[in-house]
Amino acid sequence: MRSQLFVPGDSEKKMGKGLESEADCLFVDLEDSVAAANKPKARDMAREFLAEARKRAKRPLLYVRVNALDSGLTDADLDGIMAAAPDGILLPKSQGGVDVQHLAAKLAVREAENDLVDGSTRICCVATETASAVFGLASYRGASRRLSALTWGAEDLSADLGAETNRLENGLHAPVFVLARNMTLLAAVSAGVQPIDTVYPNFRDEQGFRRECIEARRDGFTGKMAIHPAQVPIINEIFTPPAEEIERARRIVKAFADNPEAGVIGLDGEMLDKPHLERARKLLARVSA
Ligand code: COA
Ligand code: MG
Repeated sequence: MRSQLFVPGDSEKKMGKGLESEADCLFVDLEDSVAAANKPKARDMAREFLAEARKRAKRPLLYVRVNALDSGLTDADLDGIMAAAPDGILLPKSQGGVDVQHLAAKLAVREAENDLVDGSTRICCVATETASAVFGLASYRGASRRLSALTWGAEDLSADLGAETNRLENGLHAPVFVLARNMTLLAAVSAGVQPIDTVYPNFRDEQGFRRECIEARRDGFTGKMAIHPAQVPIINEIFTPPAEEIERARRIVKAFADNPEAGVIGLDGEMLDKPHLERARKLLARVSA
């Protein structure tokens, strides 16, 4: 999934607009964008929205961002929404693989209660919201088959650090946040799950947003979260591999398949060996997904 659009779970209008956007996935939010007093209402609204949206022939993936495991609200969130069978849960303030397993156990119970296939609800973690969470990044590897993606956040991390800002005057992230970003990318690849880049809050700044998407793709992120529908087409454009790139990947895979004895091959005047083959295979796997 290239684009994941946040829609506040207490806004019927934004959930509806999200469905009409071209987002590959909606993150229906029960956490920070929903005020405490609205949480019970948001659970009901989110469940009804998911149930209706699931009836559509063509729809985005539907994930729900629950409240953090230490908030005391996670169980009520899950009890409120699991009957509508979300495709996945976005877990904020995750501290590592142990939190994934903790959430997985809660999901297994609700799947059984709601007649859902065991293990069918995926988990994506926001994995850098505190300093200690950054040290937990290596523990996602092998944590659970439910784990589908890791993403990162600078807003809550800057609060935990007491940082004055997370972005420099030129719009780029300050170095400690770049470290968290890069560690998330490494952790996701190490865990064999999708690396997703963080949100760009300044939703009127298209140029800065594009730059950040291009830099994320350059480094290996395969998607980015959006907070506004206007960001979705830009994400989809930038994270869709160009046709020439796909064609070239097919030719690389074919060249190695045609020469099973060869470790290294020349194609279009360029040397290709195993890392090139792996990159080509990864790209084709992403395209077919
Ligand atoms: N999903 C769906 N629709 C959205 C949307 C979103 N995330 N953000 C804005 N829209 C809609 C608005 O409702 C508005 O609809 P309208 O034209 O029918 O009135 C339209 O898109 C244009 O919105 P705009 O006026 O440009 O922005 P806004 O001031 O209404 O909203 C935010 C700005 C930041 C409040 C809004 O984008 C938002 O709620 N984003 C998600 C926040 C979130 O979930 N954060 C948690 C993760 S960090
Ligand atoms: Mg947050």
